[in-house]
Amino acid sequence: MSEDTARLELPNGPYDVDLLESTVGLPGLDIRKLRAESRVITFDPGFANTAIAKSSITYVDGAAGELRHRGYSIEEIAKNSSFLELAYLLLYGALPNAVELSEWENDISHHMMLNEEMRSFFDAFPRRAHPMAVLSSATNAISTFYDVYRRPTRKKEIDAGARTLIAKLPTIAAWAYKKSIGEPYMYPNDEYSYVESFLHMMFSRPTQEKRIDPAIVKALNVLLILHADHEMNCSTATVRSVGSSRANMFTSVAAGMGALWGPLHGGANQAVIEMLQAIHDDPDATIASTLERAKDKNDEFRLMGFGHRVYTNYDPRAKILASYAEDVLAATAGSDPLLDIARDLEAAALEDDYFVERKLFPNVDFYSGVIFRALGFPQRMFTVLFTIGRLPGWIAHWMEMNTDPDTRIMRPRQIYIGEPARAYVPLDQR
Ligand code: CMC
Repeated sequence: MSEDTARLELPNGPYDVDLLESTVGLPGLDIRKLRAESRVITFDPGFANTAIAKSSITYVDGAAGELRHRGYSIEEIAKNSSFLELAYLLLYGALPNAVELSEWENDISHHMMLNEEMRSFFDAFPRRAHPMAVLSSATNAISTFYDVYRRPTRKKEIDAGARTLIAKLPTIAAWAYKKSIGEPYMYPNDEYSYVESFLHMMFSRPTQEKRIDPAIVKALNVLLILHADHEMNCSTATVRSVGSSRANMFTSVAAGMGALWGPLHGGANQAVIEMLQAIHDDPDATIASTLERAKDKNDEFRLMGFGHRVYTNYDPRAKILASYAEDVLAATAGSDPLLDIARDLEAAALEDDYFVERKLFPNVDFYSGVIFRALGFPQRMFTVLFTIGRLPGWIAHWMEMNTDPDTRIMRPRQIYIGEPARAYVPLDQR
C-alpha cells in the first residue's frame, strides 16, 4: 500500500482506495471503483462528506472561517473589487486587467435590456407572485430567445450565455419587483454601471429619476460580492446536477434558483428579518424565549441566520456584514431596531451552551437582511438579491463542470429498505 492509498477493511476483505490530494484542505478517498470491486456502497445523506467534483474556483476553510475565490481572500476582494470584476475572476480564473475589465463591463451593460416580448411574460403573473418564482421562470423563458445556447460546446457560445445571464438577471429582478407594486417597468441605462442600472430599474419611475447614491452603490457591490460563490452549496450542487445531464446553462441556473429559495439556504435572509420583526412586534417574545424555541427539538423553529454545514467558526461574510451594517445604516436610515435585536440575539447565542457546543455562529444571512432593508429593498426581494450575487458562481461551476473530463451524469445510489420481491395481488383479492 503506497502513501497515496488508503485501506478499507470490509467484511468481505480489504480494499485499497486511492487518496486524491488537494492543493489546500482535506484529501479525498477515490471510491469510484469501490462498488464494482467490493459490492459495497457509501451512505452520505446530504452529501455532507462527499466531494462531487474537483474544483479550483472557491476554497472554504470552515474551521478557520476563511473564504477564498481563485486564491484571493474574500476580505481583499470585498475591499478592492467591484461585483463584475469578481464575476470575471470566478468565470475566467484571473483578475481582469484594466482593458479586459472595461470591455467586460461595457459588454454586460449593453446586454442588460430584455427582449421586448418578455413584457407580456411579466404581465401574465399575478401581482402577489413571489419574485423568486418569477425570477426562475423568466430565466428559463429567456433561454427560448437564444436557441443557439441549447447545448453549447464552443467557448464563444458559452461565454455569450454567461454574459447574457449576468447582464439580464438584474433587469428580470427589477421587472418582477415593478410588477409586484404595479409600477411601469424601467429600462437599463448604458451610461450606468451594472449596480447603478439595477438600482435605477428598481427605484426610478418614468415620472421621477431616482438619485443614485454612491454609498448605496458601494454597499450593494459589497453585498453581491459576499454572495458570489460558496463552492458546493445546495444551489450550486443543483446547477451542477442539472447541468450534468448536458442541460443548457439557463435551465441549470433556473433550477439552482429553486434550491436557493428554500429557507435553509438563500431564503434564510428573508426568514431572518421575519424572525427579528416577530420578536420586535410580539410583546411576549424575548431574546431568551427565542433561543429556547430554537433549542427545543419538538419545535420546528430554528435560529435563522445561524449555523452552517461547513463553518464551525464565524462565517467571514457575516463578519464583514456585521461591521458594515452600522456604516450602511449611518448613510441611510440612521438606525434600525431590528439591528439592535440581531446584535442582542447574536450575543446571547454565542454565550449559550447549546450554540457553543454545536459551534453555531451567524452566517451570511444573519445581517444581510438588515442591510438590504436599509438600502430600501422590500423583504420579498432579499433572496432575489442573493440570486443576483450567486449567479456568477453558478455559471463558473457550470463552465468548470462542462469541461471537466471526470464529469458524469449525477446519479447517486440508495440503500433500499423497502419490500423485497413479492407476488402481485390481483385487485379482487386485496
Ligand atoms: N438553530 C437551532 N439549532 C440549530 C441551528 C439553528 N439555526 N442550526 C443547526 N442547529 C443544530 C441542529 O438542530 C443539530 O442539533 P443536534 O446535533 O442536537 O441534532 C446541530 O445543530 C447540527 O445541525 P444540522 O442541522 O445537522 O446541520 P446541517 O449542516 O445539516 O444544516 C443549516 C446547516 C444551515 C441548514 C442549519 O444550520 C440551519 O438550519 N440554519 C438555519 C437556516 C439558515 O440560516 N440557513 C442559511 C445557511 S448559510 C447561507 C446559505 O447557504 O444560504
